[in-house]
Amino acid sequence: MTNSKQHGRGNKRSKNQNDILWPRQVALSILDSFWKGEKFLDAIFESHDDFLDLDTRNRNFVRMLVTTAIRRSGQIDDLMRRGFSKPNQKMSPPIVQMIFHLAIAQIVFMGVADHAAVNTSVDLATRNGAERAKGFINAVLRKVVRDGKAWTTEQDIARLNIPEWLLDIWTEDYSKAEAIEMAQASLSEAALDISVVDPIDRESWAESLDCVILPTGTLRRNEHALVPDLPGFDDGAWWVQDASAALPVRLMGDLLGKRVVDLCAAPGGKTMQMAAAGAEVYAVDRSAKRLERLKDNVQRVRLQANVISEVSDGELWDAPEPLDAVLLDAPCTATGTIRRNPDAIWLKKSEDIASMVKIQRALLERSVGMLKVGGMLLYCTCSLQKDEGERQLNAFLADHDEFEIMPITPQEVPELEHAITPEGYLRILPFYWAARGGLDGFFIGRMIKKA
Ligand SMILES: C[S@@+](CC[C@H](N)C(=O)[O-])C[C@H]1O[C@@H](n2cnc3c(N)ncnc32)[C@H](O)[C@@H]1O
Repeated sequence: MTNSKQHGRGNKRSKNQNDILWPRQVALSILDSFWKGEKFLDAIFESHDDFLDLDTRNRNFVRMLVTTAIRRSGQIDDLMRRGFSKPNQKMSPPIVQMIFHLAIAQIVFMGVADHAAVNTSVDLATRNGAERAKGFINAVLRKVVRDGKAWTTEQDIARLNIPEWLLDIWTEDYSKAEAIEMAQASLSEAALDISVVDPIDRESWAESLDCVILPTGTLRRNEHALVPDLPGFDDGAWWVQDASAALPVRLMGDLLGKRVVDLCAAPGGKTMQMAAAGAEVYAVDRSAKRLERLKDNVQRVRLQANVISEVSDGELWDAPEPLDAVLLDAPCTATGTIRRNPDAIWLKKSEDIASMVKIQRALLERSVGMLKVGGMLLYCTCSLQKDEGERQLNAFLADHDEFEIMPITPQEVPELEHAITPEGYLRILPFYWAARGGLDGFFIGRMIKKA
């Protein structure tokens, strides 16, 4: 993996936060590490000293730049090649391609001034051992400045930016038209969605936070902001949670005094919702590190009295008593959240779906014995593939006649009635509520354990 040392880290002069080159140098190092390695982008951000040393404004810029370069990578690569004078132009050294990607992300997708994007890219070439490619970079970028936006109108955006194997599965599971809509919606920026601890305060927080209230009760802020700087964050009045991710717990009914387990709980969005609704929650997750984040989150919103957290594999966890409900927000391929994590689809392979399906089924099987008769099993994933949703639960129910579906009703999901499947599950696609800023893709199935 390339680290920042190879890219001139330690050069104090160029680390000046006001220097427009330095943040781009940091972005180059991060983008190069991402495409060379096997690491999720967040893990790279969290361990990259030069990124962490940036001031907030530059950190936000670098995050946005790298994320855009990955989200639009297929389109950007195509635009770069359209700027070449020969179709199979060699790029040497390989860092030149990364310089192009960052430059085109700025010019075509971020509205950065053309001269700033072009000049800093040429300077990056000098800094990173690609001095001989300066003329070539300059010439290609001039063409992109002139024609890049027009070229995008000729591009097949879905095919270029989503791996082929995934688009093929979506086409099979839905239709070609829906798969394309899903791909296009996955390329947009997600809004900032907020759940408030006490629903009575929803309207006043919507006003203070400059949010609209969505039909399902989530607050949505379309302007980006630094979350910890927003009013009410330090006081623990709310937490960040996508509107789709807030639905599973809303569909669990009255939770006051109920004993429930959140079997894959971290970082705790749904645990907080259940605790805020008055449930006593066992929050189980197999990742100790992620469970620490859950504990911090629960503490910030002052709900720790209702939560017992435990590091454990959900496949092995023993419920201390028969429970009223199990929430299984199962690990999945997370293809419904590409808007937030565009890196993940490039690290996954089609084979990952089968291994996720196996883990999800094992967790479902384990949940059976945790429930009281009459108890609720709520299964959800943020994957768009039906293997991890509809087909997973249909197979589980075929083998478990002690469970029945408790169909989701239109009254429970205002303005998402069309997301209810014939079986009574909820299947949210990322292009729903497009005019309001979209939703994460989600699948929810609600079942009851019979006598
Ligand atoms: C989709 S995330 C959960 C999000 C969480 N429910 C929320 O709303 O904030 C899935 C979680 O499952 C955990 N996980 C994966 N496999 C697990 C297992 N076998 N047992 C328990 N937790 C597991 C991961 O560590 C991850 O934190």
